[in-house]
Amino acid sequence: MTFTMRDKKMVIVGGGSGIARRLAADAAEAGATVVLAGREPRTLDLPGVTTARVDLGDEDSIRALAAQVGSWDHLVSLAANHTGGPVTGLAREAITRAFDAKVIGPLLLAKHFAPAARDGGSILLFSGFAAWRPAPGLSVMATTNGAVGHLAEALAVELAPVRVNALSPGIVDSGSWDRLGADRDTFFADTAARNPARRVGRPADIASAALLTLTNPFMTGSTVHVDGGGRLV
Ligand SMILES: NC(=O)c1ccc[n+]([C@@H]2O[C@H](COP(=O)([O-])OP(=O)(O)OC[C@H]3O[C@@H](n4cnc5c(N)ncnc54)[C@H](OP(=O)(O)O)[C@@H]3O)[C@@H](O)[C@H]2O)c1
Repeated sequence: MTFTMRDKKMVIVGGGSGIARRLAADAAEAGATVVLAGREPRTLDLPGVTTARVDLGDEDSIRALAAQVGSWDHLVSLAANHTGGPVTGLAREAITRAFDAKVIGPLLLAKHFAPAARDGGSILLFSGFAAWRPAPGLSVMATTNGAVGHLAEALAVELAPVRVNALSPGIVDSGSWDRLGADRDTFFADTAARNPARRVGRPADIASAALLTLTNPFMTGSTVHVDGGGRLV
């Protein structure tokens, strides 16, 4: 049996993310109509993809997006607003923004979108391998990403038969590491040398796993690790 995206409506939140944009393109190519939503809607000039505005720190915008979308088949949140550094120097507002993007926002997405899920509907939330590799300066990232897995389990039970899963990427060349400038390539080379898969991830690797979790009818309450084995070494 094959699982299809044809004529499905997919909502993707975190539209500026490189992984989100690749997922939108792949889902549209597979026949879905896609609403790519973000704080600053950026167009993706592809047939079947429209953009919308949402800020996961603003419940009114989540409510408005749900009303605009109506019924849906697949809902994905890739939003992240990380904060790092020693725990002794963390600002409360930055911690709150990180939890809004990864935990509180997805809970509110579930609140406002669940009533309009179509038969066979599914939700995918984005975690990250830092949850399994805590390190000094990464306490907020580890905690928010860890919470995502538990949130997916809880929602899988509460929203059944809507399926809810989490995906945990490792280091992916999604564009978000470009902020490292000249150090980026060294960081990727070091990561690839250490990863059991001997490479860093590409957005296409993550998009293909996302489509699997969204469409497999027996997968719910799972966290899928797509990290090149990076959390193990
Ligand atoms: N790339 C990696 O190596 C890696 C590793 C582990 C986990 N992940 C996870 O995988 C996901 C995608 O990663 P990525 O690198 O493609 O994405 P990214 O570059 O980190 O982009 C995250 C997106 O989230 C959006 N966002 C932040 N706060 C938001 C809010 N309150 N409401 C709505 N959107 C908000 C940002 O929007 P603006 O553009 O408006 O700022 C941005 O477009 C993230 O959840 C990330 O934590 C990635």
